[in-house]
Amino acid sequence: MLDARAVARVDPGGMRDIIASLPDQISAAAIWAEGKARAPIAEAQRVFLIGMGGSAIAGDVFAAWVADRCKVPIQVVRDYRLPSYARPEDLLVAVSYSGNTEETLGATAEGIKLGCRVIAITSGGRLGDLARGGGWPVFEVPAGLPPRGAFGHLFGILSTIGSGWTYGDLRGDVEQAVAHLNELRTRLRPESGVRLNRAKALALRLKTTVPILYAAPPFTAVARRWQTQLNENAKVLAFSSTFPEADHNELVGWVEDPRARSYRPIILRDADEPPELKRQLDITTSLMSKRTKVEEVHDDGPSLLSRMLGTLYLGDYVSLYLAALRGVDPLPLKPIETLKAKLAAARRKS
Ligand code: F6R
Repeated sequence: MLDARAVARVDPGGMRDIIASLPDQISAAAIWAEGKARAPIAEAQRVFLIGMGGSAIAGDVFAAWVADRCKVPIQVVRDYRLPSYARPEDLLVAVSYSGNTEETLGATAEGIKLGCRVIAITSGGRLGDLARGGGWPVFEVPAGLPPRGAFGHLFGILSTIGSGWTYGDLRGDVEQAVAHLNELRTRLRPESGVRLNRAKALALRLKTTVPILYAAPPFTAVARRWQTQLNENAKVLAFSSTFPEADHNELVGWVEDPRARSYRPIILRDADEPPELKRQLDITTSLMSKRTKVEEVHDDGPSLLSRMLGTLYLGDYVSLYLAALRGVDPLPLKPIETLKAKLAAARRKS
């Protein structure tokens, strides 16, 4: 059911190749951005990464990865507005693959009014026009991909232009992570059989459940990516939440609601969890296991970034195989297209 030919049959648009290209995207974008302008912190009190959906998630993963070594807070904004504490000296990075997402354009317009320095990462659209018109640096990503399929380009650019926002060098970590992803690809791609392919095995176990992703920082960004890839590629309901907070509320539902067995908690774990977190997650897993099967996911990469991106890569492949099992084309997103068309029509009328 999940052999390479069966996967190809439901995937005429080539999502499998887009997913496979993650390591190539990251290294190509990082090398390309290296020769371009930097984005110095200068007087900024904060860096705001503005974006939605598949464009915002690269910012989440980047900000989570460097959280313990950034010089100023790096905050992802998913809204029409900037927070009230944004200041004219702050640095604003507008990330929109299409360049036409209205929330991103709205918050960016606010930043321009405030006098912030703005950088755009986009394949074009209105954001590209605005940036060129305003003379701000534009980092162009190749056109023709679904935004969520450009994660590697967006992340590669951020990790290069953002190297001045952190203490220490990021490049070595990125190269090591790319090598790790290249190794993983051999085991996760459609040609690899279900016995060796963790993504296929997990997709089979998820087929009849609602996946609920859990992770503690810095893996919460990766849990969100799993959720959104399952939503968009496999076209299923999936949700994500955060530990340790969920242990102070959601845990009750997992233990006491008989419906828990039709949902499947997937907990993203890490070998470097601090001991108090490890203890808490071990206890949580055993409590949850009384009502439902719990999936725990680990990656054995040699660095934090390798493990974050390795875990993310597994989730991307799980979403592809779940789409194949459900017989749905992973590429098109009719509901989001309908929403955007209706928003554009409403904008024209108002
Ligand atoms: C589509 C996708 C969406 C978009 C979102 C914002 O593949 O993942 O979540 O990313 O609708 O659009 P962009 O990224 O063009 O700003």
